[in-house]
Amino acid sequence: MHDPWGHTSTANRTGAPEPGVEQTARRGEPLLRLTWTDPVTGAHGYLVVHTLVSGLATGGTRMRKGCTMSEVEDLARGMSAKTATFELPVGGAKGGIDFDPKDPAAVGVLERFCQAMRPWLDAHWVTAEDLGVPQHLIDEVFERLGLGQSYHAAISRSAQPERTLRRVTAGLNAPVPGGLLLGDVIGGYGVAQACLGAAYAWGWDTDQTTVAMQGIGTMGGGAAWYLHEAGIRVVAVADAAGTLYHPEGLDIPALLDLRDSFGEIDRSQVPEDVQRLPRNAVISTDADILVPAAISYAITPENEADVKAKVIVEAANAATIPEAEATLAARGIPVIPDFIANAGAAAWAWWLLLGQVGADPADSFLRLRTEMQSRVSLLLAQWIVDGVPPRETGEGLADSNRQALIASGEQTPIVIP
Ligand SMILES: NC(=O)c1ccc[n+]([C@@H]2O[C@H](COP(=O)([O-])OP(=O)(O)OC[C@H]3O[C@@H](n4cnc5c(N)ncnc54)[C@H](O)[C@@H]3O)[C@@H](O)[C@H]2O)c1
Repeated sequence: MHDPWGHTSTANRTGAPEPGVEQTARRGEPLLRLTWTDPVTGAHGYLVVHTLVSGLATGGTRMRKGCTMSEVEDLARGMSAKTATFELPVGGAKGGIDFDPKDPAAVGVLERFCQAMRPWLDAHWVTAEDLGVPQHLIDEVFERLGLGQSYHAAISRSAQPERTLRRVTAGLNAPVPGGLLLGDVIGGYGVAQACLGAAYAWGWDTDQTTVAMQGIGTMGGGAAWYLHEAGIRVVAVADAAGTLYHPEGLDIPALLDLRDSFGEIDRSQVPEDVQRLPRNAVISTDADILVPAAISYAITPENEADVKAKVIVEAANAATIPEAEATLAARGIPVIPDFIANAGAAAWAWWLLLGQVGADPADSFLRLRTEMQSRVSLLLAQWIVDGVPPRETGEGLADSNRQALIASGEQTPIVIP
């Protein structure tokens, strides 16, 4: 995968840039890479700012043992593609810490990382939850550091930061059916809309369309809920313990109630007529749509031939290895790329910050449904008519949106109401 636009860098690599100045990266090359070493544990943390727009970049912070600079760089590049595809007036970045999030020292490591990144977090980098770092935890750390909440760099640009913070908090915590909060389900809702967009592109009846879902945590669980609600049959779900399968469709709300905090389903309460299959069986499920929503690099050259779905919708970042994607395309199976299918949470956070949606979930759902389905429709029209892989069309879309932003003089500082 490569960066979707190809401008020469104007970055000042020695320090934080001036707000309001457009700074972009060369194709594939990020604006900035920072490595941090924790003075207490020796753990390493990384920040990659791939692109700055008006002095801002957005992207979560993850923590996992084995996290590398190149992984963070890939994710930062993906964030740049998401912000450009969804016409958000910000660049892309990502933070990563190589440390076990279940270690008792993890919170201290996160806090020291954020303290060290403070110049960026204060003025330029809007971060959020990611793997191993839940939103409530990063918000607690920001509060202790006197930065309020993890969207601080954007909120502090508002004329009335306290009012903006109240508005953003109300949106994140708005209750939705199923007993969850809008901020927790919106990413999965977007994935469900990408699946529905694919079904509409081929004219499939929703009640005849089937989905297999790898992962049933924040993204997979949210997507499964809204697909089930739309009348689509989710016939297989996998968690870290295995695959559950029912050819007539699973009772998704009941299964979601059986999850623990790691997104694993309590097998002792799963109905007898649900088949228990090995974990990787989800990949070869006979379903119309396969949604990898757990690990990166889930679809590989080794298992690509097992895929029976007619389309793959990437909820997980970097779910499909490029060689596997090329072979799938040759077999007539398109992949809706991560930077479109899973961009709902990132896009929505900015609509919320910019005051374009509020605490009524109906507004947020309508906006995301419209924007996601129109992009998937465009991608699949190019695929169906001309055989262009969706990733290629998506990268072209990101590129032209980015050019339009530059042509419109995006040096004007972003306005956060
Ligand atoms: N949470 C977000 O807002 C968000 C946004 C965009 C992209 N993503 C991406 O989506 C993916 C999932 O994130 P999440 O937040 O839903 O994670 P999560 O921790 O909430 O859930 C992960 C799920 O995957 C399952 N799982 C783990 N390993 C598995 C395996 N080998 N086979 C099958 N299932 C397995 C777990 O049991 C769990 O059900 C990640 O790639 C993440 O980067 C998340």
